[in-house]
Amino acid sequence: MNIIRAKDYQDMSRKAANIISAQIIMKPDCVLGLATGSTPIGTYRQLIDWYNKGDLDFSRVSTVNLDEYRGLKNTDPQSYYYFMHENLFSHVNIRKEATFLPDGTNPDAEAACAGHERVIRELGGIDLQLLGLGNNGHIGFNEPGAAFEKETHCVDLTESTIKANARFFDSIDEVPTQAYTMGIRTIMQAKKILVVVNGAGKADIVARAFWGPVTPEVPASILQMHPDVTVVCDEEAFSKAPV
Ligand code: F6R
Repeated sequence: MNIIRAKDYQDMSRKAANIISAQIIMKPDCVLGLATGSTPIGTYRQLIDWYNKGDLDFSRVSTVNLDEYRGLKNTDPQSYYYFMHENLFSHVNIRKEATFLPDGTNPDAEAACAGHERVIRELGGIDLQLLGLGNNGHIGFNEPGAAFEKETHCVDLTESTIKANARFFDSIDEVPTQAYTMGIRTIMQAKKILVVVNGAGKADIVARAFWGPVTPEVPASILQMHPDVTVVCDEEAFSKAPV
């Protein structure tokens, strides 16, 4: 595991964007696995900035997202589909038909999840998967206790995740209670993994996930077993690491 310490959020974002841009430069037709949430927004901004300066070309890149709420329309500002267009896709020269999220509008969970796995397989697998880290150690929507061997599946969101996500909705009652998410197995099959974490609120979980025992109780802890993981962490998130 490669742990990179960043000064602050901006520095974390820049370092993470550097790694993603190196991936695109080294393999222009790469498959990027992407995440939503607040942590990667700065990384996406930095990538957009480099694209605008002519330093990055997304024309041959494909993307697959980690997860999507079940039951939100693509036009819903809280859908991850909307988030990705708003925060990245609309600002760079990526082909929209090369961007894939689990189809949250498909009520048939099994078909939607199998479809996402098929897309990943047909693209030849994920070259670089970007991840954020949930306060309870979740990655994607793989909550504590999730089986390590699962592929894309439908999950019931935990109370703590619903509460954490409520900040994006008008009221907690509007937060969807289910999502389609890549499973741990899907994530672990990515060739490279890049985790971004910032803020003092994540310090405890960073220490447990990356220095504690590997256990389904802390889903991100499985990343210790992946051969090519880079964690970019700001000083606050790193503050409780036992090193
Ligand atoms: C997002 C996702 C989630 C987030 C995690 C951290 O696609 O799958 O696992 O990465 O909840 O969220 P933030 O970055 O908002 O703290």
